[in-house]
Amino acid sequence: MKTYTLATSLLTSGLLVATSQAQLVPFFSKPSAPARPASNQQPMAGIQLPPSSSGDTPNAPPNGDVILSDVIGNEKSINIFAGFTRDITSVSNRLDTTALNTTVLAPVNSAVSSLPRKPWEDPEDYNRLGAAAYEGQEGSNRASQNLKRFAQAHVIPTSPWKEGEKVKNMGGTELWWENQNGKAVIKPGEIEVERVVNKVANGEVWMLKGVLNYAS
Ligand SMILES: *[C@@H]1O[C@H](CO)[C@@H](O)[C@H](O)[C@H]1NC(C)=O
Repeated sequence: MKTYTLATSLLTSGLLVATSQAQLVPFFSKPSAPARPASNQQPMAGIQLPPSSSGDTPNAPPNGDVILSDVIGNEKSINIFAGFTRDITSVSNRLDTTALNTTVLAPVNSAVSSLPRKPWEDPEDYNRLGAAAYEGQEGSNRASQNLKRFAQAHVIPTSPWKEGEKVKNMGGTELWWENQNGKAVIKPGEIEVERVVNKVANGEVWMLKGVLNYAS
């Protein structure tokens, strides 16, 4: 909640509109360090397109006991989105649950910071309420709801997620992905997957080149 008080005051003063991603990160990132070192995390060269012809041992849980909540904050180029996942309770709980697998579709920082509006802003709110849309407690709640919608649109409650498999994201929208010329592309929306960042016991983190549609 403090987070939005700060965000709201910055919005009000107009500063946030011009803020850079470097300034954006601090108020969405918890100060706590990642729970474990990333020493056993191997960055993957490219997305694994099934069927895998490699000599991997696909049935062995990768990286032992390490789970998504341990690693989501480790990759600098997706740390804006990682901050959102920690601030939204439904998502942070999901990533912290060993028994439930998840594919996190994390837009790269530049995709989030170049959005025409911030992920917690909704043109509808401005239409209805004007410039004060995110002021006060109700404004904070509104921003929080919007950010939740954005974060949940990027969380697939399935892993491994197979090509062509239609799954509803946490926001209830059905998505799938296809291999196009060796690149994994999320549909609908045609958002390309840059690479798989992490594979851990309860799922995977994929880095996206853009953001998924999160409109209500
Ligand atoms: C969860 O992920 C692990 C690691 O990839 C996999 O071995 C396991 O089969 C998955 N479980 C389900 C229910 O998909």
